[in-house]
Amino acid sequence: MATGTATDRAKREAAEAAVAEIASGMLVGLGTGSTAAFAIAALGRRVREGLQVTAVGTSLATEAAARAAGIAMLDFADVAHTDLVIDGADEIDPAFRAIKGGGGAMLREKIVATSAARMICIVDSGKTVATLGTRPLPIEVLPFARNFVSDAVRALGGEPIVRMMPDGTPVLSDQANLLIDCRFGPITDPAGLASALTAVPGMLGHGLFLTEIDALFVGRDEGTARLERRN
Ligand code: 5RP
Repeated sequence: MATGTATDRAKREAAEAAVAEIASGMLVGLGTGSTAAFAIAALGRRVREGLQVTAVGTSLATEAAARAAGIAMLDFADVAHTDLVIDGADEIDPAFRAIKGGGGAMLREKIVATSAARMICIVDSGKTVATLGTRPLPIEVLPFARNFVSDAVRALGGEPIVRMMPDGTPVLSDQANLLIDCRFGPITDPAGLASALTAVPGMLGHGLFLTEIDALFVGRDEGTARLERRN
């Protein structure tokens, strides 16, 4: 079996360290993306070994993958609180403030993260940054409000680009909304930007996760670093 790249190995090890925290009886939130996919695979193995858990997914793709891995899934619409959420990030700073949404699932991811008693963010070391903004910030936008919200993003200093498929059609979220990637450059006031974006009607969700992450597991060549939020 192929062992994968060093980055894949780092993602897998961070994911497996997080899945080791799952205890019997927990209701677990499963993130979206390639790092979260390693967590789903690891949890599937633990379930096959006898671990009794239920889970909710943060995207349709995650729900399908988790079911295929043999994990008992609930509809999040029937859930208000989860015990532990494990999810990746596109970048994360030393204060555990992250940009998510590279996979376009940040609206559901934010809801599930906020429902959780604890959230572990799993990344490879290439995702850690000193200041957020090295990558675009994704936002989910009601199609009706596309130009209105894009203008508001420009007024906040960002450059909005509607995410497109290779065939030239827009990428749609699981809720059939647009995804707009907004390049702001270094984000020196993430809380200010988050509240300014939240105030724009038609902007349904942004990828800034500023308070949700409790622990950060970073896969590195020299082993996984497990960091806990200090405040
Ligand atoms: C999906 C996300 C992902 O967690 C983020 O894009 C990281 O993905 P990957 O683990 O594939 O690098 O926020 O909306």
